[in-house]
Amino acid sequence: MAIERIVDTSAPAEDPVEEALEVTLRPKKFSDYIGQERLKANVKLAIDAAIKRGEPVDHVLLYGPPGLGKTTMASVIANEMGAAIRITAGPAIERAGDLASILTNLAEGDILFIDEIHRLSRTVEEVLYSAMEDFKLDIVIGKGPAARSVRLDLPKFTVIGATTRTGSLAAPLRDRFGLIHRHEFYTTDEIARIIQRSATILGVTIAPEAASNLATRARLTPRIANRLLKRVRDYADVNGDGIIDTVIAEKALTLLEVDSLGLDPADRQLLLAIIDNYNGGPVGLSTIAALTGDEISTIEDFYEPYLLQIGFLERTPRGRKVTHKARRHLERPQTEN
Ligand code: ADE
Repeated sequence: MAIERIVDTSAPAEDPVEEALEVTLRPKKFSDYIGQERLKANVKLAIDAAIKRGEPVDHVLLYGPPGLGKTTMASVIANEMGAAIRITAGPAIERAGDLASILTNLAEGDILFIDEIHRLSRTVEEVLYSAMEDFKLDIVIGKGPAARSVRLDLPKFTVIGATTRTGSLAAPLRDRFGLIHRHEFYTTDEIARIIQRSATILGVTIAPEAASNLATRARLTPRIANRLLKRVRDYADVNGDGIIDTVIAEKALTLLEVDSLGLDPADRQLLLAIIDNYNGGPVGLSTIAALTGDEISTIEDFYEPYLLQIGFLERTPRGRKVTHKARRHLERPQTEN
């Protein structure tokens, strides 16, 4: 990513402190997991049925923008099933052999969580979907004329895949998932409850109005809400008595340059560049990427979902357009031309 952003939704894998925080705050049971009600109801039903039949739960595919709790949901499912979970990610499984060694080390009923499953290579994907289909692993031993294929039995396991795009998943792989669910953006009210819950776990006192203030700026995303909470807590510790009231919250958030709708300078720069240089669009994704100096995938995964959700960007057949609503927020009303 070109600029480090407080509103970044990528998983904090490279930051051990941040990752530890996320793990501490992660709900362990459905009863602690706030929001995603429809998804929870469907997954709960599948789990109850599987437990009743004494079988592992069907393979689950979770998709949606980053930071909305897909990994958390996977660990909740494992917990509720009383199953062990093995966590990996698409880019980490480079060769079919890597996958074979993961699969042959699973026990009956284990859950294999594959984050960024759309980034698996085609060869690995093929091995995976036959393993998911009939719990068999076909591997080739040796090379050349002496090569032979052997078929290994695998324990019955459950794959939970997570992806920001179902569109990039090969159809045969997608078809192996019995449950496919989208993580939706949270409501502001749910985010406020998540902030209150996190504050309790961290032992921080936060006024309800301050929690609401943070919630409106968290881009409807728990990962950002928890990160804002942590930064505001730091501010309260240094500049006050550690209690987060509305005054402290407002001052800290102003310092972080996150505005009343959760836009940071990078979002504003992106929207203003489209308004000022392209009269609001439509412009293609590659143009937007060039304007911000980011990869196209960064625009698609990190900037766009929230801007589309709040109606600041619009997808049209000719590219992305900045809406009147965004112009009003940025104080750049439409000019006649
Ligand atoms: N922390 C992160 N996501 C959460 C959620 N959905 N519910 C409760 N706490 C969370």
